[in-house]
Amino acid sequence: MAETAPARPFLKWAGGKSRLLSQLEPLFPKTFTGYHEPFVGSGAVYFRLRALRPGLRRVRLTDSNEELINCYSALRDSAEAVIRLLARHKQQHSRDHYYAVRAQPPDGLDSAARAARFIYLNKTCYNGLYRVNQSGQFNVPMGRYVNPTIFDAGELRQASAALQNVALNVADFWGVTRLARRSDFVYFDPPYHPLSPTANFTSYTAAAFGEPHQRQLADVYRALDRKGCRVMLSNSWTPFVLQLYKGYERIEVKAARAINSKSARRGKVSEVVVLNYRP
Ligand SMILES: C[S@@+](CC[C@H](N)C(=O)[O-])C[C@H]1O[C@@H](n2cnc3c(N)ncnc32)[C@H](O)[C@@H]1O
Repeated sequence: MAETAPARPFLKWAGGKSRLLSQLEPLFPKTFTGYHEPFVGSGAVYFRLRALRPGLRRVRLTDSNEELINCYSALRDSAEAVIRLLARHKQQHSRDHYYAVRAQPPDGLDSAARAARFIYLNKTCYNGLYRVNQSGQFNVPMGRYVNPTIFDAGELRQASAALQNVALNVADFWGVTRLARRSDFVYFDPPYHPLSPTANFTSYTAAAFGEPHQRQLADVYRALDRKGCRVMLSNSWTPFVLQLYKGYERIEVKAARAINSKSARRGKVSEVVVLNYRP
């Protein structure tokens, strides 16, 4: 499939980096070999990098979210089937349809149907949130959109083209330590350390990614640094995070928070970008 316009994120994703790209792009390393993104989310950074370097080789995108990774794999391998199924969801969209689709166990569906379900729910649920209950079932209520844009076929085809020859895996972030080679570029965008103990930015940050994970991530960062990789990491600008990455270049960027439980609290917050190389 020919790559026409550059791909960009097609999902709503908590912590998505689209609006920070103009600040992040000048910080990408000038030279590197392979690319690894262990918290890929909506892929804003990968898609931009791919637009800047169409010849990028040896790309590995991973995330612990199985539905997300299946969605990318299905688009890479059978975009037209996903698009056809999304067109059906769009036709049938209603409150009843939303809750019927939400109730379907995704592992009973084939990969394309599972991806179409995921995209449909992402675009019609409340705020594009991803939250599952204790049995792993997606439980976000329907959003109040009058006429939600469920998909754009052109955008999905561009994403599919950008995902050709890309390795996609469900994995925890530390797996990258073994797989990245000297001179590879690794970008980490983990669930953020909260600005205050009550700042509950997304459901996945709450219990699932606490201080022990942030410490483990800093160990992985240092291991990759020792290996000779170029490592870039985003996180919130907090004393805890700044201390974890002491000794590395820590650059402040300003971000507008897009998803917050209290919309009155939306505003600009500082984030840190940690580099182990000179940009
Ligand atoms: C801040 S988001 C990344 C956003 C992404 N940069 C974008 O532009 O959309 C963090 C991601 O980390 C994933 N995640 C959470 N815990 C993880 C873990 N232990 N290992 C790998 N991925 C994890 C979440 O599923 C989520 O997609």
